[in-house]
Amino acid sequence: MMRLVMLGAPGSGKGTQAVKIGEAYGIPAISTGDILRAHMEEGTELGERAKTYMETGDLVPDDLIIEIALERISRKDCVKGFLLDGFPRTVEQAEALDCKLARMDVRLDKAINIAVDSEALVCRTTGRRVCRDCGASFHIKTMPPAVKGVCDECGGELFHRADDYEETVRNRIEVYHGQTELLIGHYKAEGLYASVDGMKTPDEVFEEIQGILGPPGK
Ligand code: AP5
Repeated sequence: MMRLVMLGAPGSGKGTQAVKIGEAYGIPAISTGDILRAHMEEGTELGERAKTYMETGDLVPDDLIIEIALERISRKDCVKGFLLDGFPRTVEQAEALDCKLARMDVRLDKAINIAVDSEALVCRTTGRRVCRDCGASFHIKTMPPAVKGVCDECGGELFHRADDYEETVRNRIEVYHGQTELLIGHYKAEGLYASVDGMKTPDEVFEEIQGILGPPGK
């Protein structure tokens, strides 16, 4: 049973580690960015409202995202724990999560930050290409697919996320420093905060995380 929050700037590797943790510890990895992108794809009213914020790299308003995230952790598959990737991102969201968990009579186990240099964040995001079909992530320089523009996993088409162009990425990083970094203090005060060195390889980062959480299956 484990309830986790992943903190970290855009491109720090939250999604990459969320998948590894979810698989190893048997908990659902919930990405609010993925939920919002799915709404945009389906053209829902929420997706239309979120789109204008996401495309410029700003946060969608708290009232839009809080309800979605809290509803998601109320579902059956979260009874034995969950990992939140990209929520909370503001103090208001963190307080709403605290209230919800208190009502459920449960606690978070850890809030794990992934620390990465700003220029590495820009390089990782602007070079990222994502599969339209299975969501697998590649990088044009550090992790290119065997065939340009084609997913190694499923043969799907790779695309450049609308918010992964340099100007938008730099705004996302500023927004992170202005609004989300404050959560480090919030979780330190609750005694839940831990940080790992995100400049290491994904496997090395995951090893550090396991050092914090303890080996899977225990
Ligand atoms: P979201 O999709 O969550 O984007 P993000 O937080 O900006 O994070 P990214 O997906 O860009 O990066 P990541 O940290 O997951 O890194 P990844 O593992 O992919 O949110 C998008 C937008 O939705 C927000 O801007 C906002 O508008 C809105 N939103 C979402 N949640 C919200 C909320 N709670 N409140 C308000 N608005 C919200 O890795 C990045 C790249 O680096 C990949 O190519 C990967 O292969 C590579 N990589 C990963 N780890 C390493 C490593 N250790 N070494 C080298 N390369 C690595």
